[in-house]
Amino acid sequence: MLLVTGGAGYIGSHLVLGLLDQGREVLVLDNLSRGHRELTGKAVFEEADIRDLSQIRRILKKYPVDGVLHFAALSLVGDSMSDPQSYYRNNIGGTMNIITSMLEAGIDRIVFSSSAAVYGEPRALPVNEEAPKVPTNPYGETKLFIESMLGRSFDAYGIRSVSLRYFNAAGADPLARTGEDHSPETHLVPIALDAVLGRVEELKVFGNDYPTHDGTCVRDYVHVTDLADAHIRALEGLEKGAFGCEAFNLGNGKGFSVLEIVSAVRSVTGRGFPLRFAPRRPGDPAVLVASSAKAEKELRWKRRFKDMDEIIETAWKWHQKRFRVGRRS
Ligand code: UFG
Repeated sequence: MLLVTGGAGYIGSHLVLGLLDQGREVLVLDNLSRGHRELTGKAVFEEADIRDLSQIRRILKKYPVDGVLHFAALSLVGDSMSDPQSYYRNNIGGTMNIITSMLEAGIDRIVFSSSAAVYGEPRALPVNEEAPKVPTNPYGETKLFIESMLGRSFDAYGIRSVSLRYFNAAGADPLARTGEDHSPETHLVPIALDAVLGRVEELKVFGNDYPTHDGTCVRDYVHVTDLADAHIRALEGLEKGAFGCEAFNLGNGKGFSVLEIVSAVRSVTGRGFPLRFAPRRPGDPAVLVASSAKAEKELRWKRRFKDMDEIIETAWKWHQKRFRVGRRS
């Protein structure tokens, strides 16, 4: 059985459905602070908080878990600046509890949800795994520190791990069984779709004076189902005995500006929406684009979704199902 912490969240729930589709037994542990239990399909569900060691211990005693996929974390860059303590407690403290409980239960493999935020402002593009890691916010610092905890846990206790550094996750399950549902929502694509549905008044574009071709920030948007697939490949590698302590970038290898995303949203939905230029958001690098060559080679990771319109189509299908007026506020 596989334990997925944070399995009711955006990326976690896509992985849970992917594992269930493969016929795997899945146990989801989530405190439901941001996740949604109904998005976890037929997985076994335990409502618990990774900050509480006794709860994790109890759950790992109850179920025959042989591998962990660890998503549970606080993940808002802005929040991490205003309340770093919560990020240390949840992300670092919570992961310490997971590792302690894994050691007690004799579990020796873990796939960890890391982030492009470990790199901070990139010095060279595309960003590969060897790039300097200088996070610019506490969120990125916690992810980087956990990666080094995992390195030490391999050396000291033989826990094998794969850390996956996502760039910008986007899109939704092609069958619209799950997708993005954050409250508050901070991510570009769902906010633009909210503007299309009239759930927000307008999309604010944060900054149009960046040194990019149209002045807006450029990001590497990668489909969430492709991310889920990379986790499954990492897990299968660990199950075959590959990897001691590895990290991989996961991106699409292509950058899109905020305005390019806006125009893709307009073309996919066939609707315009109000847009306003606003000041830069503190901490946003101008350009972030990944090299995922290592994952392509060593995980044999192949992306299904390369086209931006296709990525947004899946998000749009989910967004309408979940949020169209009359369904949910
Ligand atoms: N943006 C807007 N308006 C909005 C929301 C976003 O213009 O209302 C812009 C941002 O300034 C940025 C781009 O759209 O240029 C993408 O922003 P997101 O908030 O969607 O994503 P981020 O690039 O900020 O964040 C992602 C992950 C984080 C991770 C970070 C690493 O969501 O978890 O990449 O840099 F930490």
